[in-house]
Amino acid sequence: MKALIAAGGRATRLRPITWTRNKHLIPLANKPMLANAIEKLVDAGITDIGININPGDTEIAAVFGDGSVYGAKITYLEQQGGALGIAHVVKNAKEFLGGEPFVFYLGDNIILGSLRRFVDRFERENLDVLLALSRVPDPQRFGVPVIENGRVVKVIEKPTEHISDFAVTGIYLYSSNVFNALVDLQPSPRGEYEISDLHTLMIDRGATVAFEEITGWWKDTGTPKDLLEGNALILNDRKMWQIRNEGTVDVTAVIRGDVSVGKGSVIGKNVIIRGPVAIGENVVLEDCYIGPYCSIGNDAKIHGATIENTIVFSGVTVKDCHIVDSLLGQNAMIIQAASYPPRGHRLVAGDNSYIEL
Ligand code: DAU
Repeated sequence: MKALIAAGGRATRLRPITWTRNKHLIPLANKPMLANAIEKLVDAGITDIGININPGDTEIAAVFGDGSVYGAKITYLEQQGGALGIAHVVKNAKEFLGGEPFVFYLGDNIILGSLRRFVDRFERENLDVLLALSRVPDPQRFGVPVIENGRVVKVIEKPTEHISDFAVTGIYLYSSNVFNALVDLQPSPRGEYEISDLHTLMIDRGATVAFEEITGWWKDTGTPKDLLEGNALILNDRKMWQIRNEGTVDVTAVIRGDVSVGKGSVIGKNVIIRGPVAIGENVVLEDCYIGPYCSIGNDAKIHGATIENTIVFSGVTVKDCHIVDSLLGQNAMIIQAASYPPRGHRLVAGDNSYIEL
């Protein structure tokens, strides 16, 4: 089997971070989000992977290269015409897929469990489509299956009424029959080729469509809150060999729980770290309290601060303030306001910034 990962799109809900960085490169537990998708596919024995990117995007290839570090062979596929919808991503990759069955994986989805069970069932039952479903508290945010007598009869994209507790996740397995339906798929009223419409069309045409529930957790990282939850889940899921201390730790520092510290990092005096926490390389911490559920990127400098449940990108400086439930983009600087007048917060807040004071 081959695999196709969607890593294009606009990610408007994650601005301002996504003004300057492709969403799929946002770090979770200090690794770009897309690494999770690649690792899951390789773990399921699928190494020939196409990654759909926005036209002109060079950022993703700069990070993942030819994929050999992951044991994969990666081909980058520019989405011709831009982000015209998720079904369009599949249409655009027809030549790469070459008539083989494939896993289609939305690059902003993260799962903990293995994909092997899905691949095995898809092959064993010779299916046209296998949908991975997950029970969610807010199905209206997703594609939702209409299930009758144990079969999916329709998929509705972001329904306004409650139809089911299930969401169709962004992990799909397809036979090459998907291209017969794609020829006739029409854009939705919002102008996108919808993946849910593609599934309904295939069902209407008698394709063999089955579903399987993801029993472990699954997360779509569409919003900042989702990213923080994804970060926490991945931090919790690290194996013991990934939780190493390669930095230096002052005798007055206290480290509890699962805390990894990268090369060249200095955990200075009066630091308390409560895991799970991932600290990157060349980070300097002094007089601060970090954790739980923090990822601190390379070269960050934190002094006199408290940081909890937060993703700190590389090059960030935090001084004398308390941060919770936050995303701090690359090279951001958060410092205590000066005590001289006029009193107030001095900000350089980018377009679409969100600041809670
Ligand atoms: O995460 C599961 C959900 O993903 C499904 O339940 C929905 O049925 C499906 O439509 C999709 O909904 P989203 O609103 O989350 O889609 P989003 O626009 O965020 O795009 C999903 C991924 O596909 C994301 O990694 C960006 C990428 N993408 C998206 C579009 C529209 C592309 O690569 N190209 C595109 O044209």
